[in-house]
Amino acid sequence: MEEQEAVGRLMAEMTLAEKIGQLNLLAAGEGLVTGAAQHTPLARRLDAGQVGAIFGTKSRASARAMQERALAGSRLSIPVFFAEDVIHGHRTVFPINIALACSWDLDLIEETAAHAAAEAAAEGLHHVFAPMIDISRDPRWGRVAESPGEDPLLAARIAAAMTRGFQGRNIADADRVAACLKHFVGYGAPESGRDYDNVSLSWEDLLAVHLPPFQAGVAEGAASVMVAFNAVNKLPMHANKPLIEGWLRKGEGFDGLVISDYTGVKELTAHGLGPAAVAVARALHAGIDMDMVGEDFLEKLPTLAREGVEAPHAGFSLSAAEIVDLVDKACHRVLIFKSRLGLLSNPFKGLAENPVAPSRQEGRKLARKAAARSTILIKNDHSLLPLPLDQKVALIGPFAADRANMLGTWAVSGKVEDVIPLNEAVKALTGTEPAVAWGANIVDELWLEQRLNVHGVTVERDSRSEDAILKETMAAAHAADVVIATIGEAKEHAGESSSRLAPDLPAPQRRLISRLANTGKPLVVVVFAGRPLALGEVAEKADALLFAWHGGIAGPQGVADVLFGAASPAGRLAVSLPTHPGEVPLYHAAEPTGRPSLGNFQKFRSNWLDLPDDAIRFPFGFGLGYGTVRYGSPALSSDTAMATETVLLSLKIENTGPGEVVETVQLYASDPVARVTRPARMLIDFKQVTLSAGEARELVFEITAQQFRYPIALSLLSAEWVRDPGTIQLHVGANSRDTQSVELKWLT
Ligand code: NOJ
Repeated sequence: MEEQEAVGRLMAEMTLAEKIGQLNLLAAGEGLVTGAAQHTPLARRLDAGQVGAIFGTKSRASARAMQERALAGSRLSIPVFFAEDVIHGHRTVFPINIALACSWDLDLIEETAAHAAAEAAAEGLHHVFAPMIDISRDPRWGRVAESPGEDPLLAARIAAAMTRGFQGRNIADADRVAACLKHFVGYGAPESGRDYDNVSLSWEDLLAVHLPPFQAGVAEGAASVMVAFNAVNKLPMHANKPLIEGWLRKGEGFDGLVISDYTGVKELTAHGLGPAAVAVARALHAGIDMDMVGEDFLEKLPTLAREGVEAPHAGFSLSAAEIVDLVDKACHRVLIFKSRLGLLSNPFKGLAENPVAPSRQEGRKLARKAAARSTILIKNDHSLLPLPLDQKVALIGPFAADRANMLGTWAVSGKVEDVIPLNEAVKALTGTEPAVAWGANIVDELWLEQRLNVHGVTVERDSRSEDAILKETMAAAHAADVVIATIGEAKEHAGESSSRLAPDLPAPQRRLISRLANTGKPLVVVVFAGRPLALGEVAEKADALLFAWHGGIAGPQGVADVLFGAASPAGRLAVSLPTHPGEVPLYHAAEPTGRPSLGNFQKFRSNWLDLPDDAIRFPFGFGLGYGTVRYGSPALSSDTAMATETVLLSLKIENTGPGEVVETVQLYASDPVARVTRPARMLIDFKQVTLSAGEARELVFEITAQQFRYPIALSLLSAEWVRDPGTIQLHVGANSRDTQSVELKWLT
C-alpha cells in the first residue's frame, strides 16, 4: 500500500516526457567517460532524465557515477536500476544451465542462483536477465545451452528454484536481485533450430509444454519477464497482447515488469507489422513496459501521445488519450519495480564503498559440486570408472588443458583465469602430472573454423597436420595405462545466434576416437559441449563416457572428481541424447502415432531407413552411477480412486553397491485414452535421494487427479484445461525408458 502511495505521488508530479524516459532501458556501452568525451549518448540521456534502467555496467564505480548522473538529470531524482545477464553465475561461473538442469538437484540450483545474486548485488546490480526457462527439444538451437531442457515439469521446478535463489524472500534485501523470466514464450522451439525463427505451436503445446515454467516462476513471485524475439502463431511476441496481457497478466495475475528483448520493439518492423510508430504502439498496447536499447519508445511516444495512431492495414488504432493511459500504466509498473527493489528510498543500493560479497572460495566449492553433479555418466563398461589414483593417464584432445571454453556461453562476468583446467585438476587429485597430448586443430572441420574466425577463437589452434598430431597422441596413448579423450565443441558453437545444422561430433574428432579405440587401451571419453551432441559411433567405441557440458570455473575439477571417484556421478539427462543429428527434435514426451510398432513393411514405421533400429540412444532422465540401485515393485494405496482423492504410490529402493549414491527416481504417466492424443510418457514427479552403502529407502509419491489435466484448444486464441475419468498408467524408474508400471483408474 505504502509502495502504491509513494509511486502514486511521484506519478502525479511527473510530466509525460519524464514518464516516457522511465520506459527506456539502455546498454551501458562504453559507459560514462569524463573529460572531452563526457557527453556520450548515455550521458546525454541521463542528463535529460531519459533513462529508466541500464544494463552491462562493468564496475560498481561506473554504476555509481551513472546513478549520480541519473539523479542529477531527473527533476524528481528518480534513480535508474542496473541489470545484467547473470545466466549461470556471475564472477563465479557455474556449469551452463542445461548442465545444471541435469543435476535434477533443485536445492543446488537454487544455491547457485543465490550465490550469483549475492555476487551481482555486491556489484550494484539490481536485476538479472535470468532465469532463462525456454523449453528446448532441438539441439540445433544454440541457446539450448541456457535452457532447462526438454521437459515442462523439470523446467517449471527449475524456474521456481532459480527465482527463489535470485530473489530470496525480498528483492530489496542486500544480497538479492530481481529475477526475469525469459524468453516469453516459445523461443526454444524455432523452426529448424535457427535462432530467432518463428514458431508455430498448438495452444495445447503452448499451455502444456512452454508456459508451465513461466507459470511456476510467476507463482514463485518473479519480479519481471522478458519477451521473446520470435513470433508465435504469426503474431510476434513483442506485439502479442493475447499472451502478455491475456495469459500472463490477466490469466496468471502477474503484476510485475515486462521488458522487451534487445531492440525487440524495433524488430517488429522487420517482422512486417509496420513502421516504427505502429511497432511502438503495438508493443506498448501488448503490455511491454520497457524498451531495451532500441529507443523507439523514447523517440515515438511523444508524438503518439499527441496524435494517436491509425494502422488500417492491421485494423489497429489507438487514440492519443489511450496512448497516454498506456504510458501511465507502464511507467507505474517501472516505478513499482524500483520501489520493490528499495531503490526509491535508497538509490545507492549496492553501490556503497565496501559491499559484502560472498566468499569466492565458497563459490568455487559450490561450482565444483555443481559441476560434478551435472556430469552424466553415459557408459561405464566393466566398471572402468572410477579410475584408481595411481594409473598412468594420457589426457588427449582439445580440452585436455583448456580454460576458456569451460566458461560456456553467456558468462559475461567470468574470468578465464578462474578456470582450473582438467590437466591441473587431475594432477591435484592424483598427485601425478598426466601426459597431455594437445589436439587443438582436431576440434573442427573447416566450415566451423571459418565461423570461429567471425566469432573470435577460443580454442587454440595447432598449425600441424592432423597426421602429425595423431602421431603424437598415439604415442601418448600407447605409453599410458588409460586414455582420457576430451572432445566436443567450443563455447562459441553454442549460445545466442549459434545454431548448428548438424549437432554432432566433428569428423576429425570421430577419427581420433577410432584411432584411440584401436590401441586397445581402456578409453574414457569426456564430452565438453554446449548442447546435447549426437555421439554416433563414439558411444560404441568408448569404454566409459562422461557428458560434461561446459562446466564453469570448476568444471574440470568436477569432472576429475567423477573420473577418480571423489564424487559419485549423479547427472541425469535433462534432454534426450540423439545418436544421429537427423533425429532432432527428439524428446521423451512425443505422442504416439497410428503406426508406432514394427510392421511387415519397413516403410510404414515412423523411423528412418538409414538409422539402425538398435542404434544406441540415451533417453531423457538417463545417467549411470557407480553403485547399483535395486528398485522394488511399485504399489498403489488403491488402484481406483475418485478425482477428489490422493493415491499413494510407494516403492522401495536399495543401494546394493559399496559406496554412496545419489539416485533420481522418476515418475512418468501416460493417459492412453483421452479426447486428444496425449504424450506417450509425461514426467509427473521425481525425488532425489542420497543412499549410503547398503541403505534402503521407501519412497512415496502422491498422485492426484490434478496431475492429469490437459489443455484442448477451443479457438485460435483460447484453450481449456480438462480431465477425464478412466485408466492412466504410472511408470516409475531410473529414467524415462527403464521403468515399471502400474495402472490407476479414476472413477470420476
Ligand atoms: C538478447 C538476449 O536474447 C537476451 O537473453 C539478453 O538478456 C539480452 N540480449 C541482453 O543482453
